[in-house]
Amino acid sequence: MKYSAIAIDGPAGSGKSTVAKSIARTIGFTYIDTGAMYRAITLKALELNISDLGDEKNYEFINDTRLDFIDGKMHMDGRDVSKEIRSEEVVKHVSLVSSLLYVREALVREQRNLAKRANVIMDGRDIGTNVLTDADLKIYLTAKVEVRAYRRYLELKDAGSTMTLDDVINDVIRRDTYDSTRKHNPLRKAEDAIEIDTSSLTIEEISQMIINLFKELKHE
Ligand code: DC
Repeated sequence: MKYSAIAIDGPAGSGKSTVAKSIARTIGFTYIDTGAMYRAITLKALELNISDLGDEKNYEFINDTRLDFIDGKMHMDGRDVSKEIRSEEVVKHVSLVSSLLYVREALVREQRNLAKRANVIMDGRDIGTNVLTDADLKIYLTAKVEVRAYRRYLELKDAGSTMTLDDVINDVIRRDTYDSTRKHNPLRKAEDAIEIDTSSLTIEEISQMIINLFKELKHE
């Protein structure tokens, strides 16, 4: 059986994960948060005290690492790491780790396998351009940098962070630049993706727009 796939890409704070989660719930698809997978590998590299995080030779541990999504939570080697992967320490290093070809190839393989086993809605940076190039529907979400940073700021504050809004704006700009200028599979809108600016839309509005597009495509 050929499963359906919806690819959602966009920069940090564009609303990808909240929207993807909401759509997954409504249409009964499995939600795959690929950013969480890069974050989990970054967390493990930090826990292993790898001294040079920029050297891909240090990432063979990925082959012995188990990553599962259980009830929407990221589990690494059987442990729920969904909170730890949002820490400032992980955020600081995840762009570097996710720029390494060895890391990307291993995780992309895993992501493609997941899409072979279920109907998925997958979000990330390179889903439409690389991971699932034949996805049924490709969406590219954007929003003004101030709006994206403010969303992140509220999330972080909620998690107990003391970062100021200015810190978060700078961090979002730094990550955008890094993610979109890296050599391997940079953040880019796929040619056949539909772009939606989420700056002044609610989660419900965006989710409904995407569900309608998907239904039109399937002639439902
Ligand atoms: O979406 P997020 O903030 O959880 O992503 C964390 C980092 O992982 C982000 O800096 C870019 C990287 N990433 C990536 O390179 N490719 C993906 N498909 C998903 C995330």
